[in-house]
Amino acid sequence: MAEVEPLSDVAGARITGVDLSRPMREADFTRVETALHEHCFVVFPRQTLSAPQFVAFSRLWGWPEPHVIDTYHHPQEPNILVLSNVSRDGKPIGLVDAGTYFHTDYSYLEVPARCTILFAIQVPRRHGGTTFANQTRAFEDLPQETKERIDGLVVRHHYGNRDDTDEASRTVASLLSDSQKQKVSWVRHRLVRPHPRTGVKSLYAVSGSSFGIEGMDDAQALALLRELSAHSTHERYRYVHHYQVGDVIVWDNAQLLHAAPLTDLHDPRTLWRITVKEDRP
Ligand SMILES: [Fe+2]
Repeated sequence: MAEVEPLSDVAGARITGVDLSRPMREADFTRVETALHEHCFVVFPRQTLSAPQFVAFSRLWGWPEPHVIDTYHHPQEPNILVLSNVSRDGKPIGLVDAGTYFHTDYSYLEVPARCTILFAIQVPRRHGGTTFANQTRAFEDLPQETKERIDGLVVRHHYGNRDDTDEASRTVASLLSDSQKQKVSWVRHRLVRPHPRTGVKSLYAVSGSSFGIEGMDDAQALALLRELSAHSTHERYRYVHHYQVGDVIVWDNAQLLHAAPLTDLHDPRTLWRITVKEDRP
């Protein structure tokens, strides 16, 4: 039976006593799912998984969807995106800089990501953690007047990093080829978004893919989005998870913003990633 132990007051819980390479009993999965909704992300330490076992675990959460960047899919399992700063024969073996700014996964799609699941294969000695910011807590703390003013606003999203569109920068969104660009278009999401499963409201993707607000001129919309993201990524809402080899982490994209580290290219870091979509509304 799984043991759930909170990692901080802000976000995160460690779950031990589970071997993810084996099928999970329904009652155990329900507990794990409840822990995810309560703590925003969960970590299972010391796991050993083959690529098919990792995919089988992800299917407990819903439907995995391969990333639009298909250059670094795992050779046997296209649902796995390889994130790595390692090069072999002069070629990168994975995607190097994936989302080094605050964002939430697949917010540029009509049906966004329910959760993102990473399996730590190689862990850098320094600066290798993912920074999370709790958007449920950040919404709760807003003054009532602000909550009422922003509830109901609809935000326009597109693939990319609103605050850095310089293609030469390492904090731009990972670049798409022309054919990949044709697969993404504009979508709309509520700024204050009720959680698809629990109904609890959070600020949604106020950093990252949000470029405008319906019925508002762009300058005014960007000022509001930037004001909200400055609030919601403040230190008091942040927690950094530093990986150990064998960690499997699952995070709730409806409740968190996250930012990947800018890695040192001489300090190897390799993770497998699967992104599971929300159920279609
Ligand atoms: Fe991400």
